Amino acid sequence: MSDSIDLGAFPQDFAWGTATSAYQIEGAVKEDGRGPSIWDAFSHTPGKVDNGDTGDEACDHYHRWPQDIALMKQLGTNAYRMSIAWPRIVPDGSGPVNARGLDFYDKVIDGLLEAGITPSVTLYHWDLPQALQDRGGWTVRETAEHLATYTSAVAERLGDRVTHWATLNEPLCSGWIGHLEGRMAPGLTDLTAAVRASYHLLLGHGLATQALRAAAPGAQIGLVTNHSTVVPATNHPEDLAAAARMDGHTNRWWLDPVYGRGFPTDMQALYGVELPERPGDLDTIAAPLDWHGLNYYFPATVANDATGPVPFAREVRLPDVPRTGLDWQIDATGIESLLLRLTNDYGVRKLYVTENGSAFPDTVGPDGAVDDPERTAYLEQHLAACARAVRQGAPLAGYYAWSLLDNFEWAYGYDKRFGLVHVDYATQHRTVKTSGRRYADIVRSHRQLHA
Ligand code: FCB
Repeated sequence: MSDSIDLGAFPQDFAWGTATSAYQIEGAVKEDGRGPSIWDAFSHTPGKVDNGDTGDEACDHYHRWPQDIALMKQLGTNAYRMSIAWPRIVPDGSGPVNARGLDFYDKVIDGLLEAGITPSVTLYHWDLPQALQDRGGWTVRETAEHLATYTSAVAERLGDRVTHWATLNEPLCSGWIGHLEGRMAPGLTDLTAAVRASYHLLLGHGLATQALRAAAPGAQIGLVTNHSTVVPATNHPEDLAAAARMDGHTNRWWLDPVYGRGFPTDMQALYGVELPERPGDLDTIAAPLDWHGLNYYFPATVANDATGPVPFAREVRLPDVPRTGLDWQIDATGIESLLLRLTNDYGVRKLYVTENGSAFPDTVGPDGAVDDPERTAYLEQHLAACARAVRQGAPLAGYYAWSLLDNFEWAYGYDKRFGLVHVDYATQHRTVKTSGRRYADIVRSHRQLHA
Protein backbone atom coordinates (compact mmCIF):
# COMPACT_ATOMS: atom_id res chain seq x y z
CA MET A 1 0.00 0.00 0.00
CA SER A 2 1.42 3.41 -0.79
CA ASP A 3 -0.25 6.50 0.60
CA SER A 4 0.06 9.50 -1.64
CA ILE A 5 2.29 12.14 -0.17
CA ASP A 6 1.06 15.73 -0.07
CA LEU A 7 4.45 17.14 -1.07
CA GLY A 8 3.05 20.65 -1.29
CA ALA A 9 2.89 20.64 2.52
CA PHE A 10 6.69 20.75 2.79
CA PRO A 11 8.38 24.14 2.53
CA GLN A 12 10.59 24.96 -0.43
CA ASP A 13 13.80 24.81 1.60
CA PHE A 14 12.89 21.45 3.15
CA ALA A 15 15.93 19.39 4.18
CA TRP A 16 15.79 16.04 2.41
CA GLY A 17 18.36 13.94 4.12
CA THR A 18 19.69 10.58 5.09
CA ALA A 19 21.21 9.71 8.46
CA THR A 20 24.02 7.54 9.79
CA SER A 21 26.19 7.39 12.89
CA ALA A 22 29.92 7.01 13.31
CA TYR A 23 30.26 3.61 14.95
CA GLN A 24 27.64 2.07 12.69
CA ILE A 25 29.42 2.90 9.42
CA GLU A 26 33.01 4.04 9.86
CA GLY A 27 35.05 0.96 10.79
CA ALA A 28 38.77 1.83 11.09
CA VAL A 29 38.46 1.58 14.85
CA LYS A 30 42.18 1.61 15.45
CA GLU A 31 43.19 4.15 12.83
CA ASP A 32 44.66 7.60 13.23
CA GLY A 33 44.71 7.53 16.99
CA ARG A 34 41.08 6.58 17.73
CA GLY A 35 40.64 5.26 21.25
CA PRO A 36 38.27 2.46 22.26
CA SER A 37 34.63 3.20 23.01
CA ILE A 38 32.02 1.38 25.06
CA TRP A 39 30.65 -0.08 21.84
CA ASP A 40 34.01 -1.66 20.97
CA ALA A 41 34.00 -3.24 24.41
CA PHE A 42 30.35 -4.29 24.26
CA SER A 43 30.47 -5.72 20.74
CA HIS A 44 33.61 -7.68 21.59
CA THR A 45 31.95 -9.21 24.64
CA PRO A 46 30.67 -12.65 23.63
CA GLY A 47 26.91 -12.93 23.53
CA LYS A 48 26.12 -9.22 23.42
CA VAL A 49 25.67 -8.74 19.65
CA ASP A 50 23.99 -11.17 17.25
CA ASN A 51 26.45 -13.31 15.31
CA GLY A 52 29.31 -11.80 17.30
CA ASP A 53 29.32 -8.84 14.91
CA THR A 54 31.39 -5.75 15.75
CA GLY A 55 31.89 -2.31 14.21
CA ASP A 56 35.55 -3.04 13.46
CA GLU A 57 35.02 -2.73 9.72
CA ALA A 58 31.33 -1.78 9.34
CA CYS A 59 30.80 -0.04 5.97
CA ASP A 60 34.42 1.10 5.83
CA HIS A 61 33.05 4.61 5.47
CA TYR A 62 36.27 5.93 6.99
CA HIS A 63 37.93 5.15 3.67
CA ARG A 64 34.94 5.17 1.34
CA TRP A 65 33.33 8.46 2.36
CA PRO A 66 33.82 10.11 -1.05
CA GLN A 67 31.82 7.32 -2.65
CA ASP A 68 29.16 7.63 0.03
CA ILE A 69 28.83 11.36 -0.58
CA ALA A 70 28.46 10.56 -4.28
CA LEU A 71 25.59 8.24 -3.36
CA MET A 72 23.86 11.04 -1.42
CA LYS A 73 24.21 13.20 -4.50
CA GLN A 74 22.80 10.46 -6.65
CA LEU A 75 19.75 10.32 -4.36
CA GLY A 76 19.37 14.07 -4.82
CA THR A 77 19.43 14.73 -1.08
CA ASN A 78 20.50 18.15 0.19
CA ALA A 79 21.13 17.23 3.83
CA TYR A 80 23.00 14.57 5.78
CA ARG A 81 22.89 13.72 9.47
CA MET A 82 26.13 12.20 10.71
CA SER A 83 27.83 11.82 14.05
CA ILE A 84 31.33 12.51 15.25
CA ALA A 85 33.13 9.76 17.15
CA TRP A 86 34.20 11.21 20.50
CA PRO A 87 36.95 8.53 20.79
CA ARG A 88 38.54 9.82 17.57
CA ILE A 89 38.68 13.38 18.89
CA VAL A 90 39.54 12.74 22.55
CA PRO A 91 40.79 9.15 22.62
CA ASP A 92 40.94 9.03 26.41
CA GLY A 93 37.65 10.83 26.86
CA SER A 94 39.33 13.72 28.62
CA GLY A 95 42.74 15.20 27.98
CA PRO A 96 44.56 15.76 24.71
CA VAL A 97 42.70 16.34 21.47
CA ASN A 98 43.71 14.09 18.57
CA ALA A 99 44.15 16.36 15.54
CA ARG A 100 43.99 13.42 13.12
CA GLY A 101 40.47 12.67 14.30
CA LEU A 102 39.40 16.22 13.56
CA ASP A 103 41.18 16.08 10.17
CA PHE A 104 38.93 13.21 9.09
CA TYR A 105 35.69 15.07 9.81
CA ASP A 106 37.13 18.24 8.32
CA LYS A 107 37.51 16.43 4.99
CA VAL A 108 34.05 14.87 5.17
CA ILE A 109 32.41 18.24 5.93
CA ASP A 110 34.21 19.91 3.03
CA GLY A 111 33.20 17.03 0.76
CA LEU A 112 29.56 17.39 1.77
CA LEU A 113 29.55 21.14 1.27
CA GLU A 114 31.17 20.79 -2.15
CA ALA A 115 28.38 18.36 -3.07
CA GLY A 116 25.72 20.87 -1.97
CA ILE A 117 24.75 18.78 1.04
CA THR A 118 24.20 20.48 4.40
CA PRO A 119 25.67 18.48 7.28
CA SER A 120 23.78 18.10 10.54
CA VAL A 121 26.31 16.91 13.09
CA THR A 122 25.45 14.89 16.19
CA LEU A 123 28.13 15.00 18.87
CA TYR A 124 27.15 11.93 20.86
CA HIS A 125 25.64 8.91 19.15
CA TRP A 126 26.48 6.40 21.90
CA ASP A 127 30.23 5.83 21.41
CA LEU A 128 31.47 6.95 24.82
CA PRO A 129 35.25 6.66 25.21
CA GLN A 130 35.89 3.53 27.26
CA ALA A 131 38.29 5.45 29.50
CA LEU A 132 35.33 7.50 30.74
CA GLN A 133 33.23 4.39 31.28
CA ASP A 134 36.06 3.06 33.43
CA ARG A 135 35.59 6.15 35.60
CA GLY A 136 31.83 5.71 35.95
CA GLY A 137 30.53 6.73 32.52
CA TRP A 138 27.22 8.56 32.50
CA THR A 139 26.56 7.69 36.12
CA VAL A 140 29.03 10.43 37.12
CA ARG A 141 28.83 14.16 36.58
CA GLU A 142 32.33 14.49 35.13
CA THR A 143 31.21 12.71 31.96
CA ALA A 144 28.72 15.50 31.23
CA GLU A 145 31.51 18.03 31.71
CA HIS A 146 33.86 16.10 29.44
CA LEU A 147 31.17 16.04 26.76
CA ALA A 148 31.18 19.83 26.81
CA THR A 149 34.98 20.00 26.54
CA TYR A 150 35.00 17.61 23.60
CA THR A 151 32.16 19.62 22.03
CA SER A 152 34.22 22.80 22.23
CA ALA A 153 37.13 21.14 20.44
CA VAL A 154 34.87 19.98 17.62
CA ALA A 155 32.98 23.26 17.31
CA GLU A 156 36.18 25.31 17.25
CA ARG A 157 37.41 23.27 14.30
CA LEU A 158 34.20 22.74 12.33
CA GLY A 159 31.95 25.56 13.52
CA ASP A 160 32.97 27.83 10.66
CA ARG A 161 31.25 25.42 8.23
CA VAL A 162 28.81 23.33 10.22
CA THR A 163 25.67 25.24 11.13
CA HIS A 164 23.39 22.39 12.34
CA TRP A 165 24.36 20.64 15.54
CA ALA A 166 22.72 18.08 17.78
CA THR A 167 24.15 17.34 21.19
CA LEU A 168 22.85 13.82 21.90
CA ASN A 169 21.16 11.08 19.95
CA GLU A 170 18.37 9.27 21.79
CA PRO A 171 19.41 9.65 25.43
CA LEU A 172 16.60 7.19 26.24
CA CYS A 173 18.60 4.41 24.61
CA SER A 174 21.82 5.36 26.40
CA GLY A 175 20.01 5.75 29.70
CA TRP A 176 17.34 3.05 29.76
CA ILE A 177 18.54 0.45 27.27
CA GLY A 178 22.21 0.83 28.20
CA HIS A 179 21.86 1.02 31.99
CA LEU A 180 18.50 -0.55 32.88
CA GLU A 181 17.76 -3.17 30.24
CA GLY A 182 21.39 -4.02 29.46
CA ARG A 183 20.77 -4.56 25.77
CA MET A 184 23.14 -1.81 24.70
CA ALA A 185 26.51 -0.56 25.89
CA PRO A 186 27.57 -0.34 28.64
CA GLY A 187 25.19 -3.23 29.34
CA LEU A 188 24.12 -2.49 32.91
CA THR A 189 20.85 -3.52 34.55
CA ASP A 190 20.76 -1.15 37.49
CA LEU A 191 17.93 1.34 38.10
CA THR A 192 20.04 3.70 40.21
CA ALA A 193 22.75 3.80 37.54
CA ALA A 194 20.12 4.30 34.85
CA VAL A 195 18.42 7.25 36.56
CA ARG A 196 21.75 8.91 37.30
CA ALA A 197 22.86 8.30 33.70
CA SER A 198 19.65 9.82 32.36
CA TYR A 199 20.24 12.91 34.50
CA HIS A 200 23.87 13.35 33.46
CA LEU A 201 23.03 12.77 29.80
CA LEU A 202 20.56 15.66 29.87
CA LEU A 203 22.98 17.76 31.89
CA GLY A 204 25.62 16.97 29.26
CA HIS A 205 23.17 18.11 26.60
CA GLY A 206 22.80 21.45 28.38
CA LEU A 207 26.52 21.92 28.94
CA ALA A 208 27.31 20.98 25.34
CA THR A 209 24.69 23.49 24.17
CA GLN A 210 26.53 26.19 26.14
CA ALA A 211 29.84 25.08 24.64
CA LEU A 212 28.42 25.26 21.11
CA ARG A 213 26.92 28.71 21.68
CA ALA A 214 30.32 29.93 22.85
CA ALA A 215 32.46 28.32 20.14
CA ALA A 216 30.15 28.61 17.13
CA PRO A 217 27.95 31.70 17.32
CA GLY A 218 25.04 31.30 14.92
CA ALA A 219 24.97 27.53 15.36
CA GLN A 220 21.52 25.99 15.05
CA ILE A 221 21.39 23.65 18.03
CA GLY A 222 19.00 20.81 18.73
CA LEU A 223 18.48 17.63 20.68
CA VAL A 224 17.49 14.33 19.07
CA THR A 225 15.12 12.13 21.07
CA ASN A 226 13.22 9.00 20.18
CA HIS A 227 9.62 8.53 21.11
CA SER A 228 6.71 6.18 20.77
CA THR A 229 3.02 6.88 20.98
CA VAL A 230 1.74 4.87 23.94
CA VAL A 231 -1.64 3.19 23.72
CA PRO A 232 -3.28 1.33 26.65
CA ALA A 233 -4.07 -2.29 25.80
CA THR A 234 -7.57 -2.00 27.33
CA ASN A 235 -9.68 0.65 29.03
CA HIS A 236 -9.19 -0.92 32.45
CA PRO A 237 -7.92 1.66 34.92
CA GLU A 238 -4.75 -0.41 35.60
CA ASP A 239 -3.85 -0.41 31.92
CA LEU A 240 -4.60 3.29 31.58
CA ALA A 241 -2.28 3.94 34.52
CA ALA A 242 0.36 1.65 33.00
CA ALA A 243 0.17 3.60 29.74
CA ALA A 244 0.64 6.86 31.65
CA ARG A 245 3.73 5.40 33.36
CA MET A 246 5.14 4.18 30.07
CA ASP A 247 4.51 7.58 28.53
CA GLY A 248 6.41 9.11 31.45
CA HIS A 249 9.29 6.68 31.03
CA THR A 250 9.53 6.94 27.25
CA ASN A 251 8.45 10.48 26.51
CA ARG A 252 7.97 12.91 29.40
CA TRP A 253 11.16 12.01 31.30
CA TRP A 254 13.21 13.13 28.29
CA LEU A 255 11.17 16.14 27.17
CA ASP A 256 9.83 17.80 30.31
CA PRO A 257 13.24 18.81 31.74
CA VAL A 258 14.48 20.04 28.34
CA TYR A 259 11.40 22.23 27.96
CA GLY A 260 11.63 23.75 31.40
CA ARG A 261 9.22 21.58 33.38
CA GLY A 262 11.78 19.70 35.42
CA PHE A 263 11.86 15.94 35.78
CA PRO A 264 8.30 14.57 36.09
CA THR A 265 7.54 14.12 39.77
CA ASP A 266 5.35 11.03 39.23
CA MET A 267 8.30 9.29 37.58
CA GLN A 268 10.75 10.46 40.23
CA ALA A 269 8.47 8.86 42.82
CA LEU A 270 8.19 5.69 40.78
CA TYR A 271 11.96 5.34 40.30
CA GLY A 272 12.69 6.24 43.91
CA VAL A 273 16.24 7.29 43.04
CA GLU A 274 17.51 10.62 44.24
CA LEU A 275 18.59 12.86 41.37
CA PRO A 276 22.20 14.12 41.59
CA GLU A 277 20.91 17.66 41.18
CA ARG A 278 22.93 20.79 41.90
CA PRO A 279 21.63 24.35 41.89
CA GLY A 280 21.33 25.70 38.36
CA ASP A 281 21.30 22.31 36.65
CA LEU A 282 17.67 22.49 35.61
CA ASP A 283 18.27 25.82 33.87
CA THR A 284 21.30 24.35 32.11
CA ILE A 285 19.23 21.39 30.91
CA ALA A 286 16.45 23.69 29.73
CA ALA A 287 18.70 25.98 27.67
CA PRO A 288 16.70 27.32 24.71
CA LEU A 289 17.13 25.27 21.54
CA ASP A 290 16.78 26.15 17.87
CA TRP A 291 15.20 22.87 16.83
CA HIS A 292 14.14 19.46 18.03
CA GLY A 293 14.86 16.18 16.27
CA LEU A 294 12.31 13.37 16.47
CA ASN A 295 13.36 9.78 15.82
CA TYR A 296 10.31 7.64 15.27
CA TYR A 297 10.04 3.95 14.48
CA PHE A 298 7.04 2.33 16.20
CA PRO A 299 4.16 2.79 18.64
CA ALA A 300 3.75 0.92 21.93
CA THR A 301 0.65 -0.83 23.25
CA VAL A 302 1.02 -1.49 26.98
CA ALA A 303 -0.70 -3.28 29.84
CA ASN A 304 -0.20 -3.20 33.58
CA ASP A 305 2.66 -5.36 34.86
CA ALA A 306 2.70 -4.89 38.63
CA THR A 307 5.53 -7.35 39.27
CA GLY A 308 7.66 -6.53 36.22
CA PRO A 309 10.51 -4.07 35.91
CA VAL A 310 10.10 -0.29 36.00
CA PRO A 311 7.80 1.26 34.81
CA PHE A 312 5.56 -1.74 35.64
CA ALA A 313 4.05 -1.76 32.18
CA ARG A 314 4.62 -4.45 29.60
CA GLU A 315 4.33 -4.18 25.86
CA VAL A 316 1.54 -6.19 24.36
CA ARG A 317 2.14 -7.73 20.98
CA LEU A 318 -0.90 -6.97 18.83
CA PRO A 319 -1.86 -9.74 16.43
CA ASP A 320 -2.58 -9.00 12.79
CA VAL A 321 -0.80 -5.68 12.50
CA PRO A 322 1.93 -4.95 9.95
CA ARG A 323 5.47 -5.32 11.27
CA THR A 324 9.02 -4.77 10.05
CA GLY A 325 11.77 -7.37 9.97
CA LEU A 326 12.66 -6.35 13.52
CA ASP A 327 9.11 -7.19 14.56
CA TRP A 328 8.44 -3.50 15.15
CA GLN A 329 4.81 -2.55 14.60
CA ILE A 330 4.26 -0.25 11.63
CA ASP A 331 1.98 2.68 12.40
CA ALA A 332 2.63 5.90 10.53
CA THR A 333 0.02 7.80 12.53
CA GLY A 334 2.54 7.74 15.40
CA ILE A 335 4.93 10.10 13.65
CA GLU A 336 2.08 12.49 12.95
CA SER A 337 0.86 12.63 16.53
CA LEU A 338 4.35 12.92 18.00
CA LEU A 339 5.21 15.83 15.69
CA LEU A 340 1.99 17.51 16.79
CA ARG A 341 2.67 16.79 20.47
CA LEU A 342 6.11 18.37 20.21
CA THR A 343 4.51 21.37 18.51
CA ASN A 344 1.43 21.84 20.64
CA ASP A 345 2.41 20.46 24.02
CA TYR A 346 6.09 21.40 24.16
CA GLY A 347 5.96 24.49 21.95
CA VAL A 348 8.79 23.40 19.64
CA ARG A 349 9.23 26.02 16.92
CA LYS A 350 11.32 24.02 14.46
CA LEU A 351 11.26 20.28 13.99
CA TYR A 352 13.18 17.71 12.04
CA VAL A 353 12.48 14.04 11.70
CA THR A 354 16.07 13.04 12.36
CA GLU A 355 15.48 9.29 11.91
CA ASN A 356 12.73 7.10 10.51
CA GLY A 357 13.04 3.89 8.60
CA SER A 358 12.61 0.14 8.61
CA ALA A 359 14.57 -3.10 8.54
CA PHE A 360 13.51 -5.87 6.21
CA PRO A 361 15.42 -8.88 4.96
CA ASP A 362 16.62 -7.82 1.52
CA THR A 363 17.57 -10.11 -1.28
CA VAL A 364 19.91 -9.23 -4.09
CA GLY A 365 18.34 -10.28 -7.38
CA PRO A 366 20.21 -12.15 -10.10
CA ASP A 367 20.67 -8.84 -11.89
CA GLY A 368 22.19 -7.33 -8.74
CA ALA A 369 19.10 -5.21 -8.00
CA VAL A 370 17.61 -4.94 -4.50
CA ASP A 371 13.86 -4.58 -4.67
CA ASP A 372 12.39 -3.64 -1.27
CA PRO A 373 8.69 -2.84 -1.66
CA GLU A 374 8.00 -3.02 2.08
CA ARG A 375 10.68 -0.47 3.00
CA THR A 376 9.47 1.72 0.13
CA ALA A 377 5.90 1.59 1.44
CA TYR A 378 7.08 2.38 4.99
CA LEU A 379 8.90 5.45 3.66
CA GLU A 380 5.90 6.64 1.68
CA GLN A 381 3.45 6.11 4.54
CA HIS A 382 5.60 7.99 7.03
CA LEU A 383 6.26 10.88 4.68
CA ALA A 384 2.52 11.09 4.01
CA ALA A 385 1.97 11.25 7.78
CA CYS A 386 4.63 13.98 8.13
CA ALA A 387 2.83 16.02 5.48
CA ARG A 388 -0.44 15.65 7.41
CA ALA A 389 1.32 16.90 10.55
CA VAL A 390 2.61 19.93 8.65
CA ARG A 391 -0.89 20.72 7.39
CA GLN A 392 -1.99 20.72 11.04
CA GLY A 393 0.72 23.16 12.02
CA ALA A 394 3.87 21.17 12.81
CA PRO A 395 6.89 23.32 11.84
CA LEU A 396 8.73 20.48 10.12
CA ALA A 397 11.88 21.67 8.35
CA GLY A 398 13.32 18.36 7.18
CA TYR A 399 13.32 14.58 7.13
CA TYR A 400 16.37 12.31 7.40
CA ALA A 401 15.75 8.74 6.33
CA TRP A 402 17.42 6.11 8.48
CA SER A 403 19.64 5.08 6.91
CA LEU A 404 21.78 5.99 3.93
CA LEU A 405 23.49 2.60 4.13
CA ASP A 406 22.86 -0.79 5.64
CA ASN A 407 25.08 -0.72 8.71
CA PHE A 408 25.97 -2.13 12.13
CA GLU A 409 22.56 -2.21 13.79
CA TRP A 410 23.87 -2.27 17.37
CA ALA A 411 22.89 -5.48 19.23
CA TYR A 412 21.36 -6.88 16.05
CA GLY A 413 24.63 -6.67 14.16
CA TYR A 414 24.64 -6.61 10.35
CA ASP A 415 21.69 -8.89 9.85
CA LYS A 416 19.10 -6.13 10.18
CA ARG A 417 19.29 -3.80 7.21
CA PHE A 418 17.86 -0.27 7.28
CA GLY A 419 19.65 1.22 4.27
CA LEU A 420 18.23 2.93 1.23
CA VAL A 421 21.49 1.63 -0.18
CA HIS A 422 22.42 -2.04 0.17
CA VAL A 423 25.91 -2.93 1.37
CA ASP A 424 27.55 -6.23 0.49
CA TYR A 425 29.82 -6.58 3.50
CA ALA A 426 32.13 -9.07 1.78
CA THR A 427 33.01 -6.65 -1.01
CA GLN A 428 31.76 -3.31 0.40
CA HIS A 429 29.82 -2.93 -2.83
CA ARG A 430 26.92 -0.46 -2.57
CA THR A 431 23.65 -0.82 -4.51
CA VAL A 432 20.83 1.71 -4.37
CA LYS A 433 17.64 -0.17 -3.44
CA THR A 434 14.19 0.48 -4.91
CA SER A 435 13.43 2.50 -1.76
CA GLY A 436 16.45 4.70 -2.47
CA ARG A 437 15.26 5.33 -6.00
CA ARG A 438 11.77 6.10 -4.72
CA TYR A 439 13.23 8.57 -2.21
CA ALA A 440 15.13 10.24 -5.06
CA ASP A 441 11.84 10.51 -7.02
CA ILE A 442 10.08 12.08 -4.06
CA VAL A 443 12.87 14.61 -3.55
CA ARG A 444 12.86 15.45 -7.25
CA SER A 445 9.07 15.84 -7.36
CA HIS A 446 9.14 18.17 -4.37
CA ARG A 447 11.84 20.26 -6.02
CA GLN A 448 9.81 20.47 -9.22
CA LEU A 449 6.80 21.75 -7.30
CA HIS A 450 8.83 24.79 -6.39
CA ALA A 451 10.75 25.13 -9.67
C1 FCB B 1 17.90 4.31 16.52
C2 FCB B 1 19.36 4.70 16.51
C3 FCB B 1 20.04 4.47 15.19
C4 FCB B 1 19.56 3.22 14.50
C5 FCB B 1 18.06 3.13 14.48
C6 FCB B 1 17.50 1.91 13.79
O1 FCB B 1 17.52 3.98 17.81
O2 FCB B 1 19.51 6.06 16.83
O3 FCB B 1 21.43 4.49 15.42
O4 FCB B 1 20.18 2.12 15.03
O5 FCB B 1 17.56 3.18 15.77
